[in-house]
Formats: sequence, C-alpha cells, structure tokens
Amino acid sequence: MSTKQLLALLSSHVDGDDEQVLSIALQVAAQEARQGRTDEAEQLKRLVKKARDQQRIGRPVSGQTPIPMARPRGELQGLVESTYPKVTLASMVLADSARARLSRIVRQQQERAALREHGQTPPAHILLVGPPGTGKTMTAAALAGELRLPLFTVRLESVFSRFLGETAAKLRVLFDQVAQTRGVYLLDEFDALGARRGEPNDVGEIRRVLNSVLTFMEEPNATDSLVLAATNHVEILDEALARRFEEVIEYGLPDPAAAKSLLERRLGRYKLNAKSWSTLKPAYEGLSQAELVRAADAVIRDAILEGTLTVETAALRSALQDRQTLRGKFRRASTS
Ligand SMILES: Nc1ncnc2c1ncn2[C@@H]1O[C@H](COP(=O)(O)OP(=O)(O)OP(=O)(O)O)[C@@H](O)[C@H]1O
Ligand SMILES: [Mg+2]
Repeated sequence: MSTKQLLALLSSHVDGDDEQVLSIALQVAAQEARQGRTDEAEQLKRLVKKARDQQRIGRPVSGQTPIPMARPRGELQGLVESTYPKVTLASMVLADSARARLSRIVRQQQERAALREHGQTPPAHILLVGPPGTGKTMTAAALAGELRLPLFTVRLESVFSRFLGETAAKLRVLFDQVAQTRGVYLLDEFDALGARRGEPNDVGEIRRVLNSVLTFMEEPNATDSLVLAATNHVEILDEALARRFEEVIEYGLPDPAAAKSLLERRLGRYKLNAKSWSTLKPAYEGLSQAELVRAADAVIRDAILEGTLTVETAALRSALQDRQTLRGKFRRASTS
C-alpha cells in the first residue's frame, strides 16, 4: 500500500466517509491480486463485503455503536469534542440517591417510545452540581456509554474566551445539531454563564448567550437527546435557567465507605492488607473521587515496577497524603 493510498484512507476516515474507505480497500485488494498476493486480496475483499452487509442491516462496522459516527464538522469543529465512551454507571461509586436517579434517566431514555405513546417525553435537561473531581464529567460519559450514544462536550468557558462576541451564534449551531443528532450533550463549565455576568468588558454578550440558552431549553427536542450541564457553583446560576432543568443531581465528596470502595476498586488486583483500611481513614478523608483515583494509580505504577501485587499500607498512605498536601496548597492559592 502506497503512502498516497494511506493518506486517502486516513482522510476518508477523518471525513467519516465509510464508502470511500471501502473503495480504497478494494483498490488495494486489486493491486495485491495483480502482484500475485491472492490470499491478502481475498481477505480484503471478504472484509469489505462483511462491512457492506453490516451497513445494509443498519449495524455499524465497528460493531458497538448503534448510530453512525457523528463527528463535529464545519462550524462545530473546535467547539465540540465528540467521543463514544465505554464507561458505565456500574463503574462509578455514587450515592444511592444519585445512582437511582441516573438509572431512572437511563431507563426513561431506553423506553422513550413507550413514554411518547402516552404523550410523555423522557427528561432531557439535567443539571449536575458538585465540587471538582466528584464525577460530573464521568457521569456524562457513563450516560452516553449506557445509552450507546455519542457524547458531545462543549466547554462553555473556552467558547466564551475563544469566540468573544460570537458565543451565542456559535452555540446556536450546536443547538441546531441537538435537534438533528441524538446524543448526550455536555455543557461543561456551565457556571461561566453566571460567573462572567457584570464583567466590565461584557458587551451584552452574557445576556445574548443566556437568552440563547433559555430559548434552546424551551425548544422541542425531537431526537430525545440528553442535555447535561455541569457546574461547581449552583449559586451563581440564573434562577430562570436553573428552573428549566427537569432534574438536578448533586455530587459530593465520598463518605469513608465510598472512599474505601473506590480505592479498592481502583487498586483491583493490587491488594492491600485488609486490616489496614481503618488506619488509612485520616489520609483519605476529605479527598475527592478524582484525587483518590490518582493516589491509587500512583501506588499501582510503583507496584508494577516492583513486580508485586501487594500494596504496602505506608505507600498508599503516603500517596494519599501527597494529594492532601496538594489540595491544601490549591485551597490556599484560591483563597488568597
Ligand atoms: N463517582 C466516581 N466514581 C468513580 N470514579 C470517579 C468518580 N468521580 C470521579 N472519578 C474519577 O475521577 C476522574 C475525574 O472526575 P470527573 O472529571 O468526572 O470530575 P468532575 O466532577 O467533572 O470535576 P470538575 O468539576 O473538576 O470538572 C474520573 O475520570 C474518574 O476516574
Ligand atoms: Mg468535569
């Protein structure tokens, strides 16, 4: 296969042009056949046929996702990040109430046809509120994973700073996509809407954006897309805005049992002496889920290099204390 063919293949893949990908594969097959490599040629042809058959019966080539790859193009490029997460809610450590509500949202999405038959629609606007590192972004990924939908993430703060003066127009393009492509849409850093209000260089942009978001949230959502907004600071959100969310899910730092369970899960086959857990409590208390994961990963890396499956209590304690120290530093920095 020549570099030229490889380039054509990659660029078709980037454009999401599956048909072009297959036709290049056939060209390569023909070339292989001409050069006497019939086995390779046959293999390529069989794969192309398999891909075409799967497309015909509506199954994606990759086998996992139920809808065609949706990639932000044109105006949406650089504004929206799209992924197909594989995470599920089961891999999250959640408070019972949050888990129950998230499971209900998944079920209502899955059985939206039944709801619609009775004139109901699944809740579409969900606000995720809580301190950093407690699983808001991960929840968006897990909902997309459960529903096998693409996750489209927009970081509001960066849209504001990159497209100063055109934020509302940019978001409009995104909102139009919500009506066309079913997916999970995460408006991350949603508090940017509230935080920037009253800034001296604000030339009515915040108002325009706010109005644009409010209008969007009132529009009918024919695709039953899920729109999630995540924020650390619910208190600075506009009341009119907060009211439009059908569900508000709160996140918090883990209690000791949840922290232990998260550490155990993350450590997986790397085992800590079971009796040691109680002595670690002061080291992990007050850390967020994200910080616990980082501490666990740090000791796993050491264990891998040491070639052992046993984690020393002292090593985990020290990794947890490192996170505590960092947390203390950041807190001082943000309050000074
Ligand atoms: N509830 C949880 N269960 C399991 N792992 C978690 C949980 N919360 C966070 N994590 C771990 O921490 C990482 C970071 O969490 P995440 O990005 O979801 O936090 P966040 O709430 O969105 O934080 P921020 O407000 O800073 O955006 C996750 O990728 C995951 O590894
Ligand atoms: Mg986040």
